[in-house]
Amino acid sequence: MTLAEFRREPLLFGPSPIHPMPRLSEALGGKVEIWAKREDCNSGIAFGGNKVRKLEYLAADAIDTGCDTLVSIGGIQSNHTRAVTGVACHLGLKAVTVQEGWVDYNDLAYDKVGNIQLTRIMGGDIRIDPAGFDIGMRDSWKRALDSVVAAGGKPYPIPAGASDHPLGGLGFANWAVEVESQEAEREIFFDHVVVCTVTGSTHAGMIAGFSLSDRPGRRVLGIDASGTLAQTRDQVWRIASHTAEKVGLDRPLRDDELTLVDGYVGPAYGLPDAQTVAAIQLAARTEGMLTDPVYEGKSMAGLIGMIRSGEIPAGSRVLYAHLGGQPALSAYAGYPGLGSPERELSH
Ligand SMILES: Cc1ncc(COP(=O)(O)O)c(C=O)c1O
Repeated sequence: MTLAEFRREPLLFGPSPIHPMPRLSEALGGKVEIWAKREDCNSGIAFGGNKVRKLEYLAADAIDTGCDTLVSIGGIQSNHTRAVTGVACHLGLKAVTVQEGWVDYNDLAYDKVGNIQLTRIMGGDIRIDPAGFDIGMRDSWKRALDSVVAAGGKPYPIPAGASDHPLGGLGFANWAVEVESQEAEREIFFDHVVVCTVTGSTHAGMIAGFSLSDRPGRRVLGIDASGTLAQTRDQVWRIASHTAEKVGLDRPLRDDELTLVDGYVGPAYGLPDAQTVAAIQLAARTEGMLTDPVYEGKSMAGLIGMIRSGEIPAGSRVLYAHLGGQPALSAYAGYPGLGSPERELSH
């Protein structure tokens, strides 16, 4: 099958916009041209983001197999469970989301504002669970699936991040094809693509999608924000390989098609450090582009770090994949530099 033959439920506005970021490029020495592709503006459903793009394929499958309830899992401030609930509302389905204590962080309103607030407004059926961070399969969401069956419904299981699922990589394989047509329209070529990697199917889908044309000189740099590098690398490799096969790649993937970059995760998944905050502030203060402390602030730190170190060399043209995630920002308002009034004077 070719990628275009997989049915998808249209959930996006169309191709997500791409644009240059000249002031950020200038702040980093002016020798690398930085662009962004904006999944944070990709849909009108619950603030969009990378999960809505992935769910185009999973939601089509849910509908085609007669399921009535999307069941998924994430942390308390999960963007993914917010997207699953939003997509369910949009399509007239139900959603159950297990939300676990993935992050050891106790901002005053962490469990009330941001993503979980949006999920509650959308009427989400949330099941709070105290379990810690794990990108793998969990008992708690199996229990949630059983509860839907017991109530007479037909659940559609969606693992964390919609990643470890046969269709999980298709959304971003399609993204890669979209990038190639945007490049052709503008007669440009991105030699580096920078993406945040946690549950893996965003990065993996890109690898699979770009493998179809396999243009020499392109590197996809996954910036790890999971803090479990070996497990995440395995998951990216597995999803990239089976997605590539699914969309008709007639060769095995090469090792050099997967680059997972360490050094920007901070203390753990979900916790920023000074480098993350500095990156969030630089992108915001040069371009007015907001990123969050769990995901995009870390890939932004990776982009900045790799330009400064020369790992992304002078003369490169980089595409930063902005995957969304800003709704979590309010849950970190107490974090130094992310909401504390640094320069305000009271009169
Ligand atoms: C905003 C944002 N960026 C990046 C990621 C990482 O994507 P993936 O889980 O597909 O690796 C996620 C989800 O985990 C996310 O919500």
